[in-house]
Parts: sequence; C-alpha cells; structure tokens
Amino acid sequence: MDDAERIPIIVANWKMYKTLAETEQFIDNAVPLVAQAHARIYIAVPFTAIAAAAEQAADTPFVIGAQNMNDASEGAFTGEVAGKMLVDAGAKFVILGHSERRRIFGEDNAFINRKIKRAFEEGLQPLLCIGETLAEREARETEDVLATQLSECLKGFDTEELASLMIAYEPVWAIGTGRMATPEIAQETHYFCREYLAQQWGPETAGKIPLLYGGSVRPETAPSLVAQADIDGLLVGGASLDAASFASIVNSVSQPIGLDEKN
Ligand code: PGA
Repeated sequence: MDDAERIPIIVANWKMYKTLAETEQFIDNAVPLVAQAHARIYIAVPFTAIAAAAEQAADTPFVIGAQNMNDASEGAFTGEVAGKMLVDAGAKFVILGHSERRRIFGEDNAFINRKIKRAFEEGLQPLLCIGETLAEREARETEDVLATQLSECLKGFDTEELASLMIAYEPVWAIGTGRMATPEIAQETHYFCREYLAQQWGPETAGKIPLLYGGSVRPETAPSLVAQADIDGLLVGGASLDAASFASIVNSVSQPIGLDEKN
C-alpha cells in the first residue's frame, strides 16, 4: 500500500441512536475536534438522518453513509430501503452484514452477497462485516467461519470491485460487551483474512482492501489496534456516539504512533 492508502479509516456505527437534532449537534461538536486529524472519517447514521447529515457534512472531513439496505433496486418490500435511495439522500457508503443484522434479522451470506452486488451497482462503497461468535472461537472454528463468510459474501466479484470494498472484522463476542479482542488476537485474525483474500484474489487486491477491527474499541485502546500491521482502521459503535470520545479515537490514531512502522 502506498502512503495515501495507509491513512487510518475510522467508521462510526451509530446503530439505532440519534434524532436529527442529535445528529446536527454531534457534527457541530465533532468537526472542530478533528480539524487536525490525519484519518478518513466515516459516519453510518440512521436512515432518517442521512440527507441532513450529508448536507451538513459537505465541507467537513466526515463521509456519511448507511447501516443497511435491501438487495433489490426497488419494489414491493414494505419497510425496506433501496441503495439508490441512499445515494439520493447523500450516502457514500453502506455497512452490510453487521452481526446484529445476521443474528437479529436472520441475514445470511447469500443475501449479503446480493446486497454488496447492488451497492456496487448503485455506486455505494460497501463495508462488509464478518466475525465469529464466542462458541465458534472456543470450538476453534474462527478461521473456517471467516473463510466461509468471505467466500460466500464476496462470490462473483471482480478484482476491481473488490478493491473498492472495505471489510470489518468484528468478533461477535466483542461487540457492545466491553470485551475487546487483544491487539494480538485482532492482528492474528486480520492476518488470516488478508492471506485468505490474497489466496482467492491475489496479493495486490488483498492489499487494497482496508481491513478494519470492530468490537468495544475505546479511545485508550484504539492506537494499539491501529499499530498492528494488518489493521487499517476501526469500526466503532458505542464510543462513537459521543463527539468528544469519537474525536479522541480519531485523533489518537492520527498520531505517527504505529503508522511509521507499517510498510
Ligand atoms: P461497539 O460496536 O463498538 O459498541 O462494540 C461495534 C459495532 O457493532 O460495529
């Protein structure tokens, strides 16, 4: 990766939090706090806040996106939202396959694969989430689970499409639990994913896909994660809801610490 590509990517996942007024307040508060940041900053807001947030964030470092979409271009799917509607509202990226979508709403890899395809068609950058449960880790199935998720979710895409994708490794046992993977475990798992991607699609494509870590990231732990060779950024849930806490994560990984050691 060249230097430009090594700028850390920090993605906020607001989940089902924040009204329009709260979104506006957050952006107002956070913009001056990250003025010096050397990072790419993405915020996945609720559907209802996309248009307003995208307008407000137009001249700021924040890139606004969504947390989900349907795989169809449009149709009789009550309650669903199409990719082109997200683009229309100003979204630039979309989180797909988050473990909460998989677990609570029953999304499987084939469905997520179709959503990624649609996101590419609509010009949205997909952020694919993968990760194992605690039972799977304890049964030493982590690598099998991740390999299956990667191969099924990324089936049928060419290397050009894949190079514009982002992937977040989020161990399910670390999401919202305060139990973060250690930087060593996260690095080991990211290394596995990078190698797997390289085997399937070649090292050049594998090197272009940012691999983010997610799961109980806090301002104190962010730098040690981003300092790892195969961790290109972070996906942050709970700690992204407060402007000061999120800005402190962004700023903590914008320091030269760790980045200089990467190549
Ligand atoms: P968390 O959530 O940071 O609150 O653990 C991460 C996520 O679900 O993306």
